[in-house]
Amino acid sequence: MLTAEDIRALKGTGRKVSMITAYDFAFAQMAEAAGVDQILVGDSLANTMLGYKSTREIGMNEMQIFVAAVCRGAPNTHVVADMPYLSDKDPQTAYDNAKRFIDLGAASVKLEGTPEGVIEYLRSKDIPVCAHLGLLPQTAENFKQKGKTEEEARAIEEAAKFVDSLGCFETVLEHIPEELGKKITSEVNCVTIGIGGGKFTDGHVLVMHDALGMHPRKLPPFATKFVDMYSLGVEGMRKYVESVRNESP
Ligand code: KIV
Repeated sequence: MLTAEDIRALKGTGRKVSMITAYDFAFAQMAEAAGVDQILVGDSLANTMLGYKSTREIGMNEMQIFVAAVCRGAPNTHVVADMPYLSDKDPQTAYDNAKRFIDLGAASVKLEGTPEGVIEYLRSKDIPVCAHLGLLPQTAENFKQKGKTEEEARAIEEAAKFVDSLGCFETVLEHIPEELGKKITSEVNCVTIGIGGGKFTDGHVLVMHDALGMHPRKLPPFATKFVDMYSLGVEGMRKYVESVRNESP
């Protein structure tokens, strides 16, 4: 299993880092068998697995069930546990919740933005932290690209340097212009993981349900569908239904 330090050491080597979300035992097994570097148990499971509109709909109770399942399915892969909305609202709450994830087998935690004092406190307790900048789904008013204006780009760049200085081993950069992704990647020591961050980041993350085509919905502009599992699944179940109906008494 790659540790946070192993991942950070890949910076500048030209070896890109792969991360994909997974939320349960079976798909975690699949991700590990595919050789993915990191599995993110993203709070996007609120949307992909539970059908909620917002990631704000879930909390630590749900997340712990999914993190534990993924750790059981992928015992040899670095699992990043996503801190759900308000679970990191202050340093002590964030530490208590992050510790729950680490005790379940997660190798690191991810959190959105720079909640005051939280990253510093987690790092002081030796919790490996993956930051998340750019589009922040837990608090975003819309899902448009961030960092298009000079002011917004500068704020994201400064936040990236800040989380880097606090000792985050990596940061997700979501839905920002390619040039900004490139600039930040060249300026920080931590690994940058893009999702809609252009081709110059140190690695990439995709939501598994987008990558595998698990839903018949339109994908975000930066996602790629590598297989159409929704159609394969419907086809398989249709065959099953037919086989039951055709069974002779
Ligand atoms: O929850 C999630 O899946 C994420 C990714 C979009 C990076 O945070």
